[in-house]
Amino acid sequence: MTAARQPIGVIGTGYVGLVTAAGFAQLGSEVYCVDIDADKIGQLQRGEVPIYEPGLGELIADNRERLHFSTVLDEAVEHARLLFVCVGTPPTHSGDADLSAVHAVVDAVPSSAEHALVMKSTVPCGTGRSLRRVLSEQGKGAIDYVSCPEFLKEGSAINDFMHPDRVVIGEEEGSPAGDAVAELYESLEAPLVRTDVASAEMIKLAANAFLATKISFINEIANVCEETGANVLDVARGVGLDDRIGPRFLQAGVGYGGSCFTKDVSALKLLAANSGYHFQLLGAVIEVNELQKRRVVAKLQRHLGNLAGKRIAVLGLAFKPNTDDMRGASSLVLAARLAAEGAHVRAYDPVAAGEAKKVMPQLDCGDSVLEVVSEADAVVLVTEWPEFLALDWSEVAARMSGKLVIDGRNALDPVVLDAAGLTYEGIGRP
Ligand code: UDX
Repeated sequence: MTAARQPIGVIGTGYVGLVTAAGFAQLGSEVYCVDIDADKIGQLQRGEVPIYEPGLGELIADNRERLHFSTVLDEAVEHARLLFVCVGTPPTHSGDADLSAVHAVVDAVPSSAEHALVMKSTVPCGTGRSLRRVLSEQGKGAIDYVSCPEFLKEGSAINDFMHPDRVVIGEEEGSPAGDAVAELYESLEAPLVRTDVASAEMIKLAANAFLATKISFINEIANVCEETGANVLDVARGVGLDDRIGPRFLQAGVGYGGSCFTKDVSALKLLAANSGYHFQLLGAVIEVNELQKRRVVAKLQRHLGNLAGKRIAVLGLAFKPNTDDMRGASSLVLAARLAAEGAHVRAYDPVAAGEAKKVMPQLDCGDSVLEVVSEADAVVLVTEWPEFLALDWSEVAARMSGKLVIDGRNALDPVVLDAAGLTYEGIGRP
């Protein structure tokens, strides 16, 4: 058996774990998945996929023979040398990453000179070093350790796994596990960055912080465009064609959401602060993003006056299209602010309504766009689901009692809305 086809263990079956498991199974590895959540493992054993991610269900079904699911580590440890750690590292109350799930894995793994932990979960820079110390204290110092951060995006995770921009492998000098991980990824022909563990950890945090910075930057440009009559879409295009800048992540909107950006930007800022450095830029990135979510309320007030009693239809709740993930979603802040102003919010999301109700039980969700826009004084588009881009806006206009549409993602055509008799307002568009 070549190393490229060697079996692997995947600990944690969330977004990262399931995509990693299904991806490596597709490449030919036997994959032993472990999760402490018995319900989730039960679902997976029955062939049900507990998360919404386009293509993932099919990939898991296609590779059923090679995918094994269990609530205990034994099988993974018995069959696989590389144990990919894909457990959650959510922010704690202090904003630092909660590493308790990572520590539970370290505690559970048996002493071995054969095995390696391959850290896919996003962890603060320095975690690898401290985990190695813990392993040594527990008499398990022979376990190898590799940092292999994950860069997949929700909604396009399978494609991101199969066509990564790069694979980053952080390893200690002379560690055999780094080669084994590199061989696993070899057939994907992605650029490989081999470095030390701390640098690999920092690459992940720096990449997410830079992307978030790009978004907050273009959002501030959009806000200035609103004051000066410039059009942020043309500005972003003109700026992004500069090779040194690039066109992606320059879409102005109602702010970035998702678990990664919100968590990683603040984790990096705190990591710096904990070591005595004040990372000023990231403070601004976070603040701009928070204000951006709230600017929509001011726009509504400018058109409608006092929002008390006004009916506002919110189209889209997920933090971006093609996911049911509500973590860090701008819709959460917007809906709460509108409710605080006394507005009546009715929301529709083709996929995320169930998840949204878990975090906002009082939210009034409808079953269709036409249902929630009925009698609305204004419509706010928060998530650019394809369904919303293909709407018959004359029909929407006929149902509404007001005329205002705020396009929080600059995803609609103002000419079409104008022709439907609606008043269009985007972000940074004249
Ligand atoms: C992100 C990173 O892209 C990925 O590499 C990392 O592994 C996890 O975090 P994800 O959270 O899935 O991925 O979403 P992404 O597609 O990056 O979008 C994040 C947020 O930024 C969304 O709310 C999106 O709407 C917003 N965004 C993105 C903008 O507002 N403008 C843009 O130009 C791009």
